[in-house]
Amino acid sequence: MKTIKLALIGYGNVGKAFAKMLRQRTDYICDHFNTEAVITAICTRSKGALIDGSGINTEDLDNQAFDREKSAVEVILEADYDVLIELTPINIQTGMPAIDHIRGGLNRGKHVITANKGPVAWAFRELRDLAATKGVCFCHEAAVMDGVPVFNLTRETLMGCQITEIKGILNATTNYILDEMEKGVTYEAAVKEGQKRGFVEADPSMDLEGWDAAAKLTALMNVLMDVKITPQDIRREGIGAITKEQIEEAKARKMKYKLLCHGRMENGKPVGTVKPRLVAEDSLFARVNGTAACVTLTTDLMGDVSIIEHVYEPEIDQTAYGVLGDLLRVLTETNQS
Ligand SMILES: NC(=O)c1ccc[n+]([C@@H]2O[C@H](COP(=O)([O-])OP(=O)(O)OC[C@H]3O[C@@H](n4cnc5c(N)ncnc54)[C@H](OP(=O)(O)O)[C@@H]3O)[C@@H](O)[C@H]2O)c1
Repeated sequence: MKTIKLALIGYGNVGKAFAKMLRQRTDYICDHFNTEAVITAICTRSKGALIDGSGINTEDLDNQAFDREKSAVEVILEADYDVLIELTPINIQTGMPAIDHIRGGLNRGKHVITANKGPVAWAFRELRDLAATKGVCFCHEAAVMDGVPVFNLTRETLMGCQITEIKGILNATTNYILDEMEKGVTYEAAVKEGQKRGFVEADPSMDLEGWDAAAKLTALMNVLMDVKITPQDIRREGIGAITKEQIEEAKARKMKYKLLCHGRMENGKPVGTVKPRLVAEDSLFARVNGTAACVTLTTDLMGDVSIIEHVYEPEIDQTAYGVLGDLLRVLTETNQS
């Protein structure tokens, strides 16, 4: 039996859900890959680091001593692991420090998995090329639409197709608020209810102003259309200016407002927009309700292909699955080499 060692940088909602899912799939990984996957390092900003080369019991972390002095960078450079799993919060303005964490792991010749869209939006090409030079995997499936296979789909099953356009609803908070406003709920009440239910951030400005959607669109365009843009290149408009009257007026015309992401090439240059747009009530995008998400990829050989992420409880498992799926890809690729 082989062993694959994992270092988790960031152990919040996604890290904990991933660790639980990994425990549930221990037998699967043993059976399919003749490998035992063990977590050998966990690092958080406030707790510091826990390192154990023989494997950490993630069901009993409270009784294990973290080294408060050890930083993420030290863990990345010193710990014994095969796969770095980067799960720190996104910095939408720079992608840091996650980009540095990933560079550190790749430079050591380690595979890297992340759910953080920042590095994919800000430094995808550099990280992809560094991974290729080092002969390791850089996986980021959960960075956009959680575990829904957007990146994997295009890499594995739409091989040879060129993606010429991307359209989607990628931000749950704004989609939920627009939906609620259509039911007659005020903008403010919808934000409060979303916060109470836990999927709207305490400070929702990054969502409401379209930054989160812009970062996701950037990540999709960088990877699927092979361009080099950052979230600041996206023409961005949030949903804050949409009034109750506009929503009523749209409804009377059998239309709905949606915060649509749109990426395309114009005169050889990438153009990305995030903007509230009217869509017909019977269109695909109009039917993406609440915290669901949807992306339509226009391809040259296969026409339009749409993928919908339905809401599933607990939603965090969908992200954890994206990370687990990436780990299975690393195991598949390393088993073949
Ligand atoms: N939650 C979702 O549904 C979801 C979906 C898709 C993608 N993602 C992405 O997945 C990533 C993780 O999300 P999450 O919900 O798990 O976030 P979270 O609950 O806020 O957890 C973040 C973790 O990162 C740690 N951290 C922050 N800065 C660090 C640093 N410099 N060094 C080491 N650890 C650091 C935090 O430590 P402390 O707690 O000690 O501060 C915490 O353990 C984010 O990039 C997010 O955008 C999340």
